[in-house]
Amino acid sequence: MRRSGVSETVATRSEVDPPVRIRRLTYSDLPAVLSIERRSFPTPWSLAMFVLELSKPSGICLAATTDRGMVGYLICSRYADVWHLMNVAVEPDMRRQGLATMLMQGLFDAAGPDARYTLEVRTSNDEAITMYRRFGFRPAGRRRRYYHDNGEDALIMWLDAPAAVGA
Ligand SMILES: CC(C)(COP(=O)(O)OP(=O)(O)OC[C@H]1O[C@@H](n2cnc3c(N)ncnc32)[C@H](O)[C@@H]1OP(=O)(O)O)[C@@H](O)C(=O)NCCC(=O)NCCS
Repeated sequence: MRRSGVSETVATRSEVDPPVRIRRLTYSDLPAVLSIERRSFPTPWSLAMFVLELSKPSGICLAATTDRGMVGYLICSRYADVWHLMNVAVEPDMRRQGLATMLMQGLFDAAGPDARYTLEVRTSNDEAITMYRRFGFRPAGRRRRYYHDNGEDALIMWLDAPAAVGA
């Protein structure tokens, strides 16, 4: 199965300095991905977890890059007819410039108009929850003590029709 109808470059945004390009994530990106991952999460994914996700033919894995290199990534897996947003992170000093929004928009464009999405997010992760709400994700329950490092609950969120976010 073809991964999606998107071209290699999903989007560019020239008003961000330096300009940002959204494209497919590749195995050769993974060292840079791991660097951002380890500075973004208390329990970062391993290299093997990223390799597994990239190996899934139906997944959508996107990179945000500048001429200086990788600045963000998004990993989404398809299970039956639902897309599971597995991971999204942005280089710490490039946050609040719309890069995660660009990655999310790239996902929505790639998955098509009828796609449904779900995700889990730490209940303390206000910035991510705020962003997901802006796209129309809504809370749909909790997984108790889902995160083993601190026993924190996961908030389950669902999205049936992405909202257009001016970014
Ligand atoms: C969550 C994350 C990916 C957002 O990336 P980003 O590129 O900064 O996001 P954007 O600039 O596209 O922001 C989109 C919107 O999300 C919300 N948002 C993002 N960061 C926020 C913050 N620190 N405080 C409040 N709202 C925030 C805002 O509504 C923002 O829109 P605005 O800037 O117009 O107000 C980034 O903070 C990150 O990498 N965090 C660590 C990893 C993580 O927690 N990933 C999510 C796992 S579920």
